[in-house]
Amino acid sequence: MHSPFILVIFGATGDLTYSKLIPALFLLYKHKQLPKDFYVIGFARRILSSSDFRNLFIPENEDKQWESFSEHLRYQRGVFNDPEGYFGLIEQLELIDKKHGACITRLFYLATPPINYEDILGMLVETKLSEGCGQGSNNWTRLALEKPFGKDIETAKRLDKKLSEVFEEKQIFRVDHYLGKETVQNILAFRFANGIFEPIWNKDYIDHVQITWGEKKGIGNRGAFFDGVGLLRDVGQNHLMQLIAAVAMEQPSSFSKEGVRNARAEAIKAIRCIAPDKVDEYVVRGQYNGYKGEKDVVRDSLTETFVSMKLYVDTDRFSHIPFYIRAGKGIPEDIVEISVVFKQTCHILFKEYGCPEIGNVLTFRIQPNEGIRLRIIAKKPGAKLALDAVDLKFSYKDDFGEKGIEAYEKLLLDIFAGDQMLFNRSDELESSWEFITRILEGWQERKNIYSYQIGSWGPKEANNLIEKDGRKWV
Ligand code: BG6
Repeated sequence: MHSPFILVIFGATGDLTYSKLIPALFLLYKHKQLPKDFYVIGFARRILSSSDFRNLFIPENEDKQWESFSEHLRYQRGVFNDPEGYFGLIEQLELIDKKHGACITRLFYLATPPINYEDILGMLVETKLSEGCGQGSNNWTRLALEKPFGKDIETAKRLDKKLSEVFEEKQIFRVDHYLGKETVQNILAFRFANGIFEPIWNKDYIDHVQITWGEKKGIGNRGAFFDGVGLLRDVGQNHLMQLIAAVAMEQPSSFSKEGVRNARAEAIKAIRCIAPDKVDEYVVRGQYNGYKGEKDVVRDSLTETFVSMKLYVDTDRFSHIPFYIRAGKGIPEDIVEISVVFKQTCHILFKEYGCPEIGNVLTFRIQPNEGIRLRIIAKKPGAKLALDAVDLKFSYKDDFGEKGIEAYEKLLLDIFAGDQMLFNRSDELESSWEFITRILEGWQERKNIYSYQIGSWGPKEANNLIEKDGRKWV
């Protein structure tokens, strides 16, 4: 159990607070993972009372514990670039401190569009909120912020500079919620706790890696955010980079905050940048039909809702091993999956017996049906020798009886505990922005964006990236 805290959520009436933060806090509360004294203060522009604010989050299914949990929620109306709301916030914070006779840990969570970050940081400084509650305890104050951190490498660096002027690195929690997912963390456990896989985790055995990230739904009501961002920035710069890093990283020197962050940062740095004039060779972008008609989307938008790419990680281990990525909204399944496809050796002995086209594949199912499966080739029952592929499976639900804790629960607990292992360090972000920015530059010169039907696996051009190499999606 952690010590008392006050979590101030900027952007408290937005989608993230509604769909992730409050549900995660409520789950933590129900699992008795929160201290007796904790306060959540929502800060946003809308005129609401604390009770209106609570009512925004009432769970669909009646829950007896909601009432007592919701008493911990309060509201402060404020405009991000106007000190008035911040003064109101200070009053609320001081009242809480006074009630406890102590300085309670303050956690500022920026759940707003990134465009508001500079204003909020500026106001935290101007009103001295960034300095903590004035008992020599400024390091208690923490700042969590959501991606995207900037729009490209330059804006990301600027934001980082600004952050470092206000807070020390140990106070800054850059959230990529994929790092909090059980299944992403489990890739490290799988690779480094099971000695049998490391010897084959390299270019001598691996043929290529495939990553599929998809959502059935389109952008829904998020047009105002998404149209200025696009899929590459929304999930490519962060979640996909982290999935690549989990597969490609070297063994961390220790399972410590810096050990793991160093290994991740090295892996992301090793992702080979695609020169802007080569973007068409390695990257295909798509937009689903009907996107331009979505709410808050500009009518001639060139924003991508689908990206497919081929990339390399220039380390000794993975040298010349292609990573094929496809990611999109409006595709047939909700799915996040990484498949490591091993070199096919079946034909050496069994060529005439009908080897399956693809041999061993190790698949990490990040979601849904979280688990791992290993595709092996086996002899089919019968007098004659014939071969087929079958799966060895591990399923979180079946094998552990539960699928584990939600990413935001884990990340919030880590913020409360001050543990930064599962949060981005600025050098990781810089490398991933470097990679993404080159692609964005390439796109700026071209207008080629392919359309695709919602409910399909993206534009057909996307498959060419893998098929022209004589491979296919497993
Ligand atoms: C967010 C993106 O970071 O991740 C969304 O902004 C996306 O566009 C979401 O839908 C997916 O998260 P999850 O946990 O459902 O895979």
